[in-house]
Amino acid sequence: MKRKLLEEMNFHPVLEAYEGVAQPCEGIKTARETFATSEAADVKTTDFDGSRAADVIGDRSVADIRADFPIFAAGDPENPARKTIWLDNASTTQKPRSVIDREANFYARENSNVKRGAYRLASNADKLYEDARSSVARFIGAKPQNLIFTRGATEGINLAAQATLRPLIKRGDEIIVTILEHHANIVPYQMIAAEKGAILRVAPVRSDGQIDLAKYKKLFSPRAKFAAIAHISNALGTILPIAEMAEIARLCGAKVLIDAAQSISHIPIDVRKIGADILVFSGHKVYAPFGIGALWANDETLELAKPYHGGGNMIADVTFTKTLYQKAPNKFEAGTPNIAGAIALAAALEYIGVIGMKNIARYESDLTRFAISELSKIDGLRIIGNASDRAGAISFVMERFSIEEIAGFLNERDICLRAGHHCAQPILRFFGLEATLRASLGLYNTVSEIEALASALRDLAKN
Ligand code: ALA
Repeated sequence: MKRKLLEEMNFHPVLEAYEGVAQPCEGIKTARETFATSEAADVKTTDFDGSRAADVIGDRSVADIRADFPIFAAGDPENPARKTIWLDNASTTQKPRSVIDREANFYARENSNVKRGAYRLASNADKLYEDARSSVARFIGAKPQNLIFTRGATEGINLAAQATLRPLIKRGDEIIVTILEHHANIVPYQMIAAEKGAILRVAPVRSDGQIDLAKYKKLFSPRAKFAAIAHISNALGTILPIAEMAEIARLCGAKVLIDAAQSISHIPIDVRKIGADILVFSGHKVYAPFGIGALWANDETLELAKPYHGGGNMIADVTFTKTLYQKAPNKFEAGTPNIAGAIALAAALEYIGVIGMKNIARYESDLTRFAISELSKIDGLRIIGNASDRAGAISFVMERFSIEEIAGFLNERDICLRAGHHCAQPILRFFGLEATLRASLGLYNTVSEIEALASALRDLAKN
């Protein structure tokens, strides 16, 4: 029974074609062999030695930044004396007071629907919502008309899959993903591949958890129509060379989607420099509320994309015989949007924009190196994935202890991190694992918190 179910779920062809395709596309055949290094490389790390004096981001101390986040002063809901060490930022981030207040203020003083009312509150809400769109677009170097609000990265990917990929793909065509993808950047394409008789090709990683660009290049044939790439692996922290990968895919004429869910809060993003067609992210991973996110797409992609959800706001005219649609972004925002969420997302990006994304990237990179060096000293602890270009999602396992035992022990010390498969089973299985612990850093984490994690794990290892 179980076997039958599994067979049913796997009826679409998947090619883990590491040897590459027989007939590469023309663009790839003539492309230069080596590609430039990733754009993230311009954020240099400092000579950080883990000393407390280094707990500074730009011109602010991390202690000062932490004071902006009410949850850290509040402590545990049942016992406020117990202070939380939040190392689960890849799952979700805590929210600064300015974001919490911005959303509350909308409901308390400015609440109205958008694009419907003839009164002042409604036109004010319209303005706030469109200003939020402009701010969010500006944060990633985009124009507002190319920015669509979504519920999050998962909805953004599903939108792209249905609106762009589905009309494009035919039997025998290929969709290229990487083995590092989050399930959300695999399953929506699998569903379409199954329906259309298309093929999913999977790019492998090297043993350090980084994409091998030469092998990546070999996956592309003239049948490649769509490439989906995580900017940062949520499971390993690897920063993928997205500009180079996008260049390879585009040489074959494939559309490129970047899943920026794990990078938006950690490194600067400028869609003008990446060369992708679509980029998605979630608000809650970048210090904004749940239930809001964004999809950016270039003009050509938006022009060709079919509507995803039908309903109010996205139409220009409706009769029972024919409906005319609005242009983007409205065409892809059917129904009442999350207005307060969009405004709060803009507030979150403004908050980190003032601190400075390069400053945040530099600080987190230093803290990540410190964390890796501390964790590496612990007996029996193995870090999974050690790409040189990496962010602060650090997966590990420990000899003699199950994932549940480690997570339970850390919970007793008020250390929050994720235990499990991180919605990224293919990459964990590549390393022969079903689950890991994952500590993931944010801008408010400190050297002391990393020391507390390392000290707890050292104590556990002595047991
Ligand atoms: N995608 C989130 C994570 O990696 C939930 O934890």
